[in-house]
Amino acid sequence: MAPTDSFDLDAYQRSCQTRVNERMDVWLSQQNGLAPRLVDAMRYATFNGGKRVRPVLAYAAAQALGGDAERVDDIAAALEMVHSYSLVHDDLPAMDDDKLRRGKPTCHIAFDEATAILAGDSLQCLAFEVLATSPAPLNTAVRLELIRVLANASGTQGMAGGQALDLAAEGQTLTLEQLETIHIHKTGCLIRAAVRMGALTVDAVTPAELEALDRYAHAIGLAFQVQDDILDVVGDTATLGKTQGSDQALAKATYPAILGLEAAQSLAHSLCDQALAALQLLDGRAEPLRALARYIVSRRH
Ligand code: IPE
Ligand code: IPE
Ligand code: MG
Ligand code: MG
Ligand code: MG
Repeated sequence: MAPTDSFDLDAYQRSCQTRVNERMDVWLSQQNGLAPRLVDAMRYATFNGGKRVRPVLAYAAAQALGGDAERVDDIAAALEMVHSYSLVHDDLPAMDDDKLRRGKPTCHIAFDEATAILAGDSLQCLAFEVLATSPAPLNTAVRLELIRVLANASGTQGMAGGQALDLAAEGQTLTLEQLETIHIHKTGCLIRAAVRMGALTVDAVTPAELEALDRYAHAIGLAFQVQDDILDVVGDTATLGKTQGSDQALAKATYPAILGLEAAQSLAHSLCDQALAALQLLDGRAEPLRALARYIVSRRH
């Protein structure tokens, strides 16, 4: 069991990023032919410096249970496709109207709005095609469950539902409970799905392990968006790769806006502690998950 301070999260993230990028490249290469500009926009939206947090979480969840990274590769690719699609649509004029993403012009600025909408649509479709057709040795029941988990996390019960509430909340004064509902859905659900999907690749996973991982993922999913809100206030545009102050400009419902900056920061840390506590039954193989929880609330972008 590796001691906490010897685990090299940077190296772990880089190796997961390389794996998922390779798989996304393979799948996107198969999309050329009919509409090359649309595929260019899909590539633009995916290969542009994202942190790949959801893929890394999926690999780390599988590793915590003794699973194989090979079984996770296409799941990681599917998760990042859904996430990248959500960013393309989130940045559209009809939503957050942002011009900078991952340090580059947003997809609708670099291409055009219609292409950005279609690139998002197509990335989402491709994610499910990847899960259905991946050559990874996953049995049919597991594959169906992976598709169900990702669909549920992405739609009205998850990310899209949360995005609808986020947009409706602009300029409104919310209770803390209402804000938590938005954040758990718009961001938390896909993060929770990433952890669950990674765990589902491991045949021997027990209900108790799945439950512990879900408590972990619920806490870091919320913490991730709390930190995102904090960075919109305290970050800088160059480091963030997206325009600092964008939430304030749109009067978005955020944790710093409702709680104040300090209370938002201490909430993020207490969510990290909750996440770590949830992993108590897991051994040293869960060290990447532990390091990721700490990273999520200390990251600068
Ligand atoms: C940004 O997600 C949008 C949120 C859900 C908060 P990330 O911070 O994971 O963005 P990338 O993928 O690294 O660009
Ligand atoms: C985005 O939340 C959540 C999704 C894309 C689903 P934000 O709107 O806060 O994300 P950023 O700050 O633009 O990355
Ligand atoms: Mg948004
Ligand atoms: Mg946004
Ligand atoms: Mg944000």
